[in-house]
Amino acid sequence: MASVPPAVKLKEGRIEQLVLDLCTPDRRQDALLQLSKKREIFQDLAPLLWNSLGTIAAILQEIVSIYPFLSSPTLTPAQSNRVCNALALLQCVASHPDTRMRFLNAHIPLYLYPFLNTTTKSKPLEYLRLTSLGVIGALVKVDDTQVISFLLSTEIIPLCLRTMEIGCELSKTVATFIVLKVLLDDVGLEYICTTAERFFAVGRVLANMVAAQVEQPSPRLLKNIIKCYRRLSDNLRACNALRSCLPDMLRDATFTNYLQNPSTINWLQQLLHKVQGPRVAAMQAGGFDHMLVN
Ligand code: TRP
Repeated sequence: MASVPPAVKLKEGRIEQLVLDLCTPDRRQDALLQLSKKREIFQDLAPLLWNSLGTIAAILQEIVSIYPFLSSPTLTPAQSNRVCNALALLQCVASHPDTRMRFLNAHIPLYLYPFLNTTTKSKPLEYLRLTSLGVIGALVKVDDTQVISFLLSTEIIPLCLRTMEIGCELSKTVATFIVLKVLLDDVGLEYICTTAERFFAVGRVLANMVAAQVEQPSPRLLKNIIKCYRRLSDNLRACNALRSCLPDMLRDATFTNYLQNPSTINWLQQLLHKVQGPRVAAMQAGGFDHMLVN
């Protein structure tokens, strides 16, 4: 068996030292920065973070230390950066198959919710919001109904809706992706369509984002919005409601020119087909046909 080259061993030793440094207050800031930079290269960072004594507690301490600043305008970019590095390490733990369920069972996502619950649009808060959504996004990337059920029980949907209303384009895209992943799960679709209030809360936010596309077009966001509507149409009651509340801009040719991705056009055609019936959908989506490969 080939032995591990000394360079790699050395690097691992260095990583372990950085993990230990997280528990030493005056070394923590540098360790957070170095580890968050290296998290992609060092594949087993997540189990190392999870299994080393006091490390997760140190990361959580870092996170809760800025809660008092969330409601005041004094949160500085440096404070926000430092916590974003801590969040990046949590994202690593949320992504790794060996630590994902332990991360959930310890209810760690709840520590991120105060960052999603803010209403201020300042840069430092926006950065915290985006990075927190990145952690939740990493959790839902893998289709696992246990993850979705946990997130639903913690009321993640209203928090995502808030970001979809006030966040920057990238935050909106990630929040919509999370809602989409919830909808794609059968339990999630049922959850959102179970009361009219929930369905219309989601429908209203999606419709507002469609309207905002005119001034601020974002194909990647629009794609997620269309996929959400398309999935909602799988629920009979939601499908009926969409007959009256699906934005006209999705029914006419408003987005013909920049919906260049064939799969997005296909999703939209499926949506119109379900909501309006085959004949009308064929007539209205006819304008897209020439763009469809195959
Ligand atoms: N407690 C609220 C509910 O269960 C949570 C909620 C608010 C919600 N807005 C929502 C859930 C929109 C789904 C969709 O209804």
